[in-house]
Amino acid sequence: MHFSKKLYIIKLKIFKNIEPLQKYVADLKKQQKSIGFVPTMGSLHDGHISLLKESIIHNQVTICSIYVNPKQFNDHQDFICYPRQEKKDIILLNNVRCDVLFMPSDNQIYPRLEESSITYESTLVMSILEGEKRPGHFLGVLKIVYKLFYIINPDIAYFGEKDYQQLYIIREFVENQNINIQIQSCATIRETSGLALSSRNKNLTIEEKALALNIFKALSLFKEHIMH
Ligand code: PAF
Repeated sequence: MHFSKKLYIIKLKIFKNIEPLQKYVADLKKQQKSIGFVPTMGSLHDGHISLLKESIIHNQVTICSIYVNPKQFNDHQDFICYPRQEKKDIILLNNVRCDVLFMPSDNQIYPRLEESSITYESTLVMSILEGEKRPGHFLGVLKIVYKLFYIINPDIAYFGEKDYQQLYIIREFVENQNINIQIQSCATIRETSGLALSSRNKNLTIEEKALALNIFKALSLFKEHIMH
């Protein structure tokens, strides 16, 4: 797709550095504006858009962040291959009328090479399922979520039910740390086939997509049996 030939009117405010964003947020707070926050790793799809729309309806200002957080990848190849589409994301965010995009560099988020790991004890839910298969993943998620919450200090933050374990762990973390931010969950958005939308779906072959869909099919069958 070529973006250079078309003239897009970009109203979205884009911040790459923490300091000007924090000044902007302080100003919003002075004006007592409610701030909704949608943290993402970019490569936005309709699942992200549904979170953004929810925030836009319920808040005076919506801030989205795009940052592919290296600390939550235990497999470097997975980090390298994670889909990235910066220009397209900016246009999507502008079209949905998101107000602000925070798109920091690694240097902004992790200014020191050596950084002590987050002093948060893993809970039981962090050690099972995805936590068991991807050691350190959830601590990496909490590390970035904590940093983003500290920088942006939103009233409400929006997370998808697709990553249900992540949602549970973030809720638990916010409660345990007495962080005064409401965590709002939003329903999973699916392709017509039933496959949950996910940025990583782009990396799947047709065969792998069909295999992935079996999870939804099996869970739906299971649900049907329980209900009847
Ligand atoms: O769900 C995601 O996209 C990421 O785990 C999050 C919450 C943005 C943290 O990097």
